[in-house]
Amino acid sequence: MAKIAIIGTGYVGLASAVGFAHLGHDVVGIDIDKSKVEKLTSGKSPIFEKDVEIYLAQSLAKNKIIFSSDYSDMKDCDFVFMCLPTPQNDDGSADINYILDSAKTLTNQLKENATLVIKSTVPVNTWKKVTEILNRTDVSIISNPEFLREGTALEDFFNPDRIVVGGISEEKAHLVADLYKSKDAVIVFTDNTSAEIIKYASNSFLAIKLSFVNEIAAYAESTDANALEVLNAMGLDKRIGKDFLKPGPGWGGMCFPKDVSALKESAREKNVPIPLLDAALESNLKAHARIVSKVKKALGGSLKDKNISVWGLAFKANTDDIRFSPAISVIELLISEGAQIKAFDPVVKQVKELAIEVKSEIIQSVENADAIVVLTEWQEFKLVEPSLIDKLVKQKIVVDARNLLDKEKWINSGFMFIGNGYN
Ligand code: UDX
Repeated sequence: MAKIAIIGTGYVGLASAVGFAHLGHDVVGIDIDKSKVEKLTSGKSPIFEKDVEIYLAQSLAKNKIIFSSDYSDMKDCDFVFMCLPTPQNDDGSADINYILDSAKTLTNQLKENATLVIKSTVPVNTWKKVTEILNRTDVSIISNPEFLREGTALEDFFNPDRIVVGGISEEKAHLVADLYKSKDAVIVFTDNTSAEIIKYASNSFLAIKLSFVNEIAAYAESTDANALEVLNAMGLDKRIGKDFLKPGPGWGGMCFPKDVSALKESAREKNVPIPLLDAALESNLKAHARIVSKVKKALGGSLKDKNISVWGLAFKANTDDIRFSPAISVIELLISEGAQIKAFDPVVKQVKELAIEVKSEIIQSVENADAIVVLTEWQEFKLVEPSLIDKLVKQKIVVDARNLLDKEKWINSGFMFIGNGYN
């Protein structure tokens, strides 16, 4: 078993900390946010993430994990993982100041021959900057990007498709890979810079794929084709793959928008622009607007003073994260056209940035609604019986941006039902 420090206990850091502790390692979770440290020490997770609190409670009970704000508590750790945020600068580039500041602190804390593992998503050659700041020839730097999805972070931690370890020291790269004790994952040994790009390229490719999916949905709607059948048939080609082929209101979250913009900026700086990334970002804005156009068309061409019931605020189901949520982008557009919004989300109970009513019950959100718009694919929305709400709405119109609901059931209850990708 190894002694592991996790610097930064956010979505990635916390999943990694409880994941490693569950695998039997001794883990120290370091965070500057003392309230977060207190909460975690008491067994409470600051984030909504499936199974985190279960694993947290078990690891605390077995004394396999502690949390602290004091870097000196990690001085005897063999492996120190940087899981710090790399937020987007105004120009789209990644802000790596949390990483560089942490490196400055770590230089006097890291034990002899420790391994510093950069898990955060960082622009190319960040590892070189960290190396210079550390100025410790005994410390190996390993780039080990994460591929955790919010809502399935622990599932992805324990069952990775691949574990990428990039570094000069092959021996240390193997030791980092071994920490995961994964029997099935492909271990990719490479250099630091390639490991940094693997993360950006993977996320950007997925974003481009989704932008294309939403454009095929738009095109199919201009014909009498059904994009869902088109996309299903496409996915049977192993080179395309069946996942990530669902049309939606556009893609979002804390990673895709940030990573696509960061890669775009990094490539531009090297004078090798990647125009597909510009196109994917622009296409994604059109995906948000396309849902608004559907609602507007269903309501006779104007949203002014119309009451819209929005189902879903999180950027996807099974998370409480509204950062860069497509649902929020669509709501902003609806409001800009004069609509009044009553929203419901099973987990998100307030949106400070928006002048909207967030209802505690879904039934309250449909009262007097001119249209219901489904923006996040929460499974519980499928349980709503249309016959129960058809007396509450002003107009019986549903725009299902996620193709989530049972179309026939809603049509049989007298609703106009508009899906995504077909007429
Ligand atoms: C993503 C990557 O998947 C993960 O590997 C990386 O580590 C972090 O970024 P995440 O941001 O949690 O994970 O979200 P993801 O599940 O990838 O979904 C991203 C967006 O695409 C969401 O808005 C989701 O609703 C949307 N999406 C996804 C679709 O619209 N259709 C799909 O078929 C799949």
